[in-house]
Amino acid sequence: MSSTGDKQKAWDAHWRSGSLSSLSSGDKSTEAPEAIAAWNGFFRKLSGGAKILDIATGNGIVPAHARAFAQEFHTTFEITGIDRADIDPLATVTEQRSLLEGITFLAGIAAEDLPFEDALFDAVTGQYAIEYTNMVETAGEVARVLKAGGRFRFVCHAREGGIVTFNAPKAQQCAWLLKQSGVFESLSAAARAAFENSPEREETRTRFRKRAVDARGKLAKMGENQEVQDLLNNLVQVYIARDQFGNYAGFEKWLKGVFEEVAGQLQMIQALEEAALDFDGIDRLSEVLQKAGFDEIAIAELHAGPNKTLLAWQIEGVRV
Ligand SMILES: C[S@@+](CC[C@H](N)C(=O)[O-])C[C@H]1O[C@@H](n2cnc3c(N)ncnc32)[C@H](O)[C@@H]1O
Repeated sequence: MSSTGDKQKAWDAHWRSGSLSSLSSGDKSTEAPEAIAAWNGFFRKLSGGAKILDIATGNGIVPAHARAFAQEFHTTFEITGIDRADIDPLATVTEQRSLLEGITFLAGIAAEDLPFEDALFDAVTGQYAIEYTNMVETAGEVARVLKAGGRFRFVCHAREGGIVTFNAPKAQQCAWLLKQSGVFESLSAAARAAFENSPEREETRTRFRKRAVDARGKLAKMGENQEVQDLLNNLVQVYIARDQFGNYAGFEKWLKGVFEEVAGQLQMIQALEEAALDFDGIDRLSEVLQKAGFDEIAIAELHAGPNKTLLAWQIEGVRV
């Protein structure tokens, strides 16, 4: 199990990479038309000028949906996104930056300790958000910062849902590749021997190739995951084209970066698996929200994709 600090570093690195969404999934969860339509159904209930707070916002995918809705329906929202991670979406998201213009983002803010006055917001949103936090404390803070009659909507990972089931085998594969396959170590040794033209050159290269071939077979048995396979193929390709790095130090730096990136993905998937809610979990969250001062709480499953697979839980309610 990884520590909170490790996970936070993984999120910091992920959001700095500029991606708008959190984790890859087979059916592009956060951008699934069904997911966006469900958000739009919520935004429709808000008045023009509504102040919206998005907790655990990441690089602001939900604020981006809210902004797009406001533009399409000629209304305005005042949108703020907070995250405990070191986010800076307006600087790091380059390709889709225009989707985030006018949104306020605050980094290093825990949902359990919001730096806002009481009854400031008309709506609080969160996607794959509250289940990552201390839910009792966050629910209390959400109730505090919402006006009476204000609304919340949270989309939460479902333990049986597509995002968890897609990512679980990927996590197993990443863990095996990093910790047991010997691919990274043998690649490093082969590259060093090649750059230094040492007598072990042939032997280390043969060992790396064998590790890579064995890894391909093992990964295939662990279930198809294109991203992990592409990663392995890329390691082989880069060994062949290693001259681009000039020397072993340059190569090793690159390899360390790849290792850390995969380790970060593993941390994020482990965090997702720990956060995901089963039926009892979403029921407990509903009770927590009720105790915090919410009414009209409604839970529904969110389905998406051609097979209408379960994607997530959605839970909504109104501040008493
Ligand atoms: C799966 S991501 C979701 C991001 C975004 N809502 C989305 O849908 O793309 C989970 C986020 O929760 C954040 N997080 C975890 N614990 C938190 C906490 N206690 N307070 C605020 N943010 C937190 C992480 O930094 C990460 O950005």
